[in-house]
Amino acid sequence: MIGVFDSGIGGLRLLDKLRQRWPQEDFVYLADQAHVPYGSLDRDTLLDLLQLNLNWLEKQGADRIVVACNTASATGIARRYRGQAQIVEIISKTCEQIPASTAKILVLATPFTAQSHRYQQVLARQLPQAEVKEVGLSCLAFMIEHLCPKQEIETYLKGELNAYQNGFDLAVLACTHFPFARDQFAKVLGIPLIDSESIALEAPAQPGQGTLRIATTGSVELLARQLRGLMNWDVPCEQIQIEV
Ligand code: DGL
Repeated sequence: MIGVFDSGIGGLRLLDKLRQRWPQEDFVYLADQAHVPYGSLDRDTLLDLLQLNLNWLEKQGADRIVVACNTASATGIARRYRGQAQIVEIISKTCEQIPASTAKILVLATPFTAQSHRYQQVLARQLPQAEVKEVGLSCLAFMIEHLCPKQEIETYLKGELNAYQNGFDLAVLACTHFPFARDQFAKVLGIPLIDSESIALEAPAQPGQGTLRIATTGSVELLARQLRGLMNWDVPCEQIQIEV
């Protein structure tokens, strides 16, 4: 069984792609919506939450867990997780999609991811000649999580990205929530966009039954609305409590 994790709805698009790729596999998705947005939390708090959340996924039977969250990936949880499941982070895989000829890269992320400089570190090894600018967008994941109207998102992006509209070859949407506002980013920036949604996994050892469980630490009513509004999914979801 594959576990997929995010602070909220950001990982759903990657979950969708993984399910299309492996329709026979069983999936369990956990959204830690009691604590979203992760991008404003400190590292110790995040690592504690991640340990508990990934452990919950493992207890449900997940032997591989995709951390479909750049902020969580930027904490280094893949190396630090104390458990048996294999943890797959998404930052290095996202960077692998950037063409080798790219000279100036704009990384748009949560404040935590931007301040961690994780993208800069990975890209310094992968594309040492490239110039990388990391920018934290402190409100965007929250706005998307709360189904904020597209026009408001566009106005927010115009204000935040005013200084970065020229001179970049491409932008990385380095938060899995951000592709829900892909059209607004495209309109404001007008350059190619890369996201964290193309993560390759090894073939599963044994096929499952194609089951899907979706759980949240927050409100099931809100999650059901988000699933319908953003993914067009009418699927049951469950509320869980994780003991701290
Ligand atoms: N979707 C997450 C990411 O990729 C986190 C957004 C948040 O909770 O701040 O970083």
